[in-house]
Amino acid sequence: MRYLVTSALPYANGKLHVGHVAGAYLPADIFVRYLRLKEEDVIYICGTDEHGTPISISADKEGISPSDVVKRYHESIKEAFDGIGVEFDNFSGTAREDHHKLSQEFFTNLHDKGFITPKSTLQFYCHHDKRYLPDRYVEGTCPKCGASGARGDQCDACGQIYDTTSLKQPTCKICGNQPEIRETKHWFLQLAKFTEQMKDWISHKDYWRENVRNFMLNLLDQGLIERSITRDLSWGVPVPLDEAVGKVLYVWFDAPIGYISSTIEWAKRIGQPDLWKDYWLSEDTQLIHFIGKDNIIFHALIWPAMLMGQDKKYCLPHDIPANEFMNLEGDKISTSRDWAVWVDEFVKVFPGEYLRYYLAVNAPESKDSDFSFKDFQQKVNGELNNVLGNLANRMLSFSMKYFEGMVEKVELTQQSIDVLKEADDLLMEIDKSYQEYQVKKNCKLIMDMARLGNKYFDDRQPWKQIKEDRQSVKETLWVSMLLLHKVSIALTPIMPKSMNQLRRMMKLPSQYSFADAFAEPCGKVVIEKVEALFSKLDDELIDAQIEALKSKSIAKAISQEYLPIKDTISYDDFARMDIRIAQVLHAEPVPKTDKLLHLKVDIGSEQRELVAGLALHYKAEDLIGKKVVMLVNLEPRKIRGILSQGMILAADTNGSLSLLHPHKDSMPGATIS
Ligand code: 2FM
Ligand code: ZN
Repeated sequence: MRYLVTSALPYANGKLHVGHVAGAYLPADIFVRYLRLKEEDVIYICGTDEHGTPISISADKEGISPSDVVKRYHESIKEAFDGIGVEFDNFSGTAREDHHKLSQEFFTNLHDKGFITPKSTLQFYCHHDKRYLPDRYVEGTCPKCGASGARGDQCDACGQIYDTTSLKQPTCKICGNQPEIRETKHWFLQLAKFTEQMKDWISHKDYWRENVRNFMLNLLDQGLIERSITRDLSWGVPVPLDEAVGKVLYVWFDAPIGYISSTIEWAKRIGQPDLWKDYWLSEDTQLIHFIGKDNIIFHALIWPAMLMGQDKKYCLPHDIPANEFMNLEGDKISTSRDWAVWVDEFVKVFPGEYLRYYLAVNAPESKDSDFSFKDFQQKVNGELNNVLGNLANRMLSFSMKYFEGMVEKVELTQQSIDVLKEADDLLMEIDKSYQEYQVKKNCKLIMDMARLGNKYFDDRQPWKQIKEDRQSVKETLWVSMLLLHKVSIALTPIMPKSMNQLRRMMKLPSQYSFADAFAEPCGKVVIEKVEALFSKLDDELIDAQIEALKSKSIAKAISQEYLPIKDTISYDDFARMDIRIAQVLHAEPVPKTDKLLHLKVDIGSEQRELVAGLALHYKAEDLIGKKVVMLVNLEPRKIRGILSQGMILAADTNGSLSLLHPHKDSMPGATIS
């Protein structure tokens, strides 16, 4: 049996945040490390998802090429994975040539068999930019829930999909103009043709997580519908048909093929170019895709259908452990609001291992979970330090203090035998939970094992025994060391570096398997140096993180809400503006208009008339007597037959106007400078 483990390819369009890690990467990395401890044949494959409209939109905005955007984020994502010890056998990217070729081969294969067919469809088209506007290139109001910022065919707020033509108030993301709807041709994957095969396949998947299985059963129940798999774009894998000039494969069609192209790249890199076939083209492989719940449809339906429709007999997913979402301090993680904990920033302040433990103990396995800095502090201080760190420290320090670091095998009393048996029972449970991807449960079980050690140590009171019965203290230390040996193996998949450090301190072998946890590793160890395994996080540090998170998000909100500051002007330019206090003497609506008011004002030296666009915000009668701020040397202009001699100043908050209120002591005509 071989295992081929993958994690959803992250978009090369942004940095990695803790939600990504908790959903698709850490659970897979832990599973792979566990399989290696079980001495299984496993490879872990990933890479960046380098196509799709978000990447080309970012490139357009920055005035750089999509491949520059991709390069930047590919590197940054890789570094973030390094920072938390997520280690792939290969980390590729979908913009690479071999991936393009393989994706085209997938398309051609399905097309030749009639699983992909063309159809005329309606698409937004921007006159100004002279291009179609697929997916995120158009934004508007969701026809289902009314939320703004909805995309061409899907709304992020309610998650619903709809017909392109039903999006309300559509605007082009490039120029802001209203696009028109035009006819274009696209290619569709005929999923219905796979219905029977799919039903049969799913019927054997009773071990899948409920969220994935139910999702699929529901879809099959509703009847499978065709899915468009091409787009009018220049960035992506060109559709390999003469009649499809200017069209590329939809990002979700080519992305999962990246699992195969990255495996092929791996095989070439290690000098065994055919080795990928042992994994992908063998019935003996368990293919396991770790994903977030938003990716279920693609991995459990579209991707298997794409594989079923190939000439080559690729293996199908054996399991698709989909995780729920992780929120942040009680609110949904949002990259656009900068409400996120970014991995690269986090590991500059805290050890990556702490993050691994926290995301594991708080894994969103069966329901959404919440990342909270206070809870993180509590888990590090209360569990890693007070439970596991404490056991390690007391065993190591005690043996250094009284036995010059020597911990030897001795004959065991029943109490010790019972404790070790209890630990082995826990180990068996841990073994099973790892197979079921239950890392949250395992964090608890492993801490229970460490607690067992602390209780044993307390019960035996070696600090008292040392004066009366050195042999009994030797036994306490030997058994505590054995318990730490078991913990270190059980926790290796979750905290590989720290467990390495612990084993180094105890002079235990650095090569070990899960089975070794049930055995004695040696007859004695000689400890030389004791280091703290973990350190406590103080309130100040944690509070500062919460503060920084909030202020970053506020700063982002301000920068999005307010317009950028205009170009600078000289002082002379400013000084030419004559701004004064004015008092409204009379106000009435301008006939046949909604927005305009006809005002008569006193500016100290004279009375003026003007037209102001305030009618939607103020009633005419409410303005009479009010003092306002007015630009008095604006060139007069005739509006609706009235000579308007100046302009009243008002604050504009997203189109809602509010007048500036001078202090009551400022008199009409007073200048503003
Ligand atoms: O949701 C995402 O982040 C996608 N980039 C996942 C792609 S998974 C796969 F199919 F490659
Ligand atoms: Zn446009």
